[in-house]
Amino acid sequence: MTVATWPVAELHVHIEGTLETELLVALARRNNVELPSYDPDALRELYRFTDLQSFLDIYYANLAVLRTEADFYDLGMAYLTRASAAGVRRAEIFFDPQTHLANGIPLDVVFGGLSRALGDARVTLGISADLILCFLRHLGGAAALATLDAAIPYLDQFIGVGLDSAEVGFPPSLFTEVFARAEALGLHRVAHAGEEGGPDYVHEALDLLGVERVDHGIRALEDPRLVEILRERQIPLTVCPLSNVCLRATPSLGAHPLPAMLAAGLLVTISSDDPAYFGGYVDDNLTALQGEFGLDHEQMATLARNSFRAAFLPEAEKRRHLAAVDEHLEALLRLTSGA
Ligand code: HPA
Ligand code: ZN
Repeated sequence: MTVATWPVAELHVHIEGTLETELLVALARRNNVELPSYDPDALRELYRFTDLQSFLDIYYANLAVLRTEADFYDLGMAYLTRASAAGVRRAEIFFDPQTHLANGIPLDVVFGGLSRALGDARVTLGISADLILCFLRHLGGAAALATLDAAIPYLDQFIGVGLDSAEVGFPPSLFTEVFARAEALGLHRVAHAGEEGGPDYVHEALDLLGVERVDHGIRALEDPRLVEILRERQIPLTVCPLSNVCLRATPSLGAHPLPAMLAAGLLVTISSDDPAYFGGYVDDNLTALQGEFGLDHEQMATLARNSFRAAFLPEAEKRRHLAAVDEHLEALLRLTSGA
């Protein structure tokens, strides 16, 4: 960890999207799964996306290599080790049980491996982490309800539910019932909205699903009334700049709406989404933004503070993390002033 590495919470990362091509190849060999190539660099070369769906097609196909509890443990541990080096002190990690169930992997295997990795990382890396179970929107509301029912025996192993996969054509309104049930179970609620879908999807996520955070939400800026609601209620938006560039949600990093979102007073946090596919972890995202927009130490501290403010953590724990951000800022300011 360098002096530039801010302590942060990562609130938008899909554990399946942290499967680096080196681990992909190792797991394919371990489980006798066929890949288009066994050269990690050649596989990475195939990651040229034109939109969300072009990414999802490769991403879902690669997940056939995850078969055993040890595979899920290795995946979780690899992410948490890298995240720790990126300054992540708290991670709220998405996972897609429906993908694994469709591959014939029982929930017990998925939870077993991931939960054991989270528990070990707490001890060995001092990183606090929890799971958020995501529903695949392209499979619809009834399948989401069945998934939540199936996950009830594991309620002590996840803190909330989310909504991901293909956005356009699968609006939040399809998932009202499952989110109401999740709320009744005492679970946190978040949803991807306004990544490729318009501001209407963000409105629906807030009004119909009662989400506490919006994942991406970059298209919210197209609707001034929505911006006002998000600002007024300080609804966190988990923004993933390198993902947005790779999936062409924004034409370039320079055209990214982050500065406008900050200027509008929105509670923006920075995350990596699917770091094995989009060219970097949370530290890489922060560094890229700093380089592109010339963010100063105070602005970087705001992003780091926002991540802890938006985390699903007790207030006392948030205060401890916020104090670490202040300390980091002071150290940087001392360094740059030459004191
Ligand atoms: N959007 C929707 N679904 C996803 C994403 C994303 O960025 N990453 C993994 N699943
Ligand atoms: Zn995402």
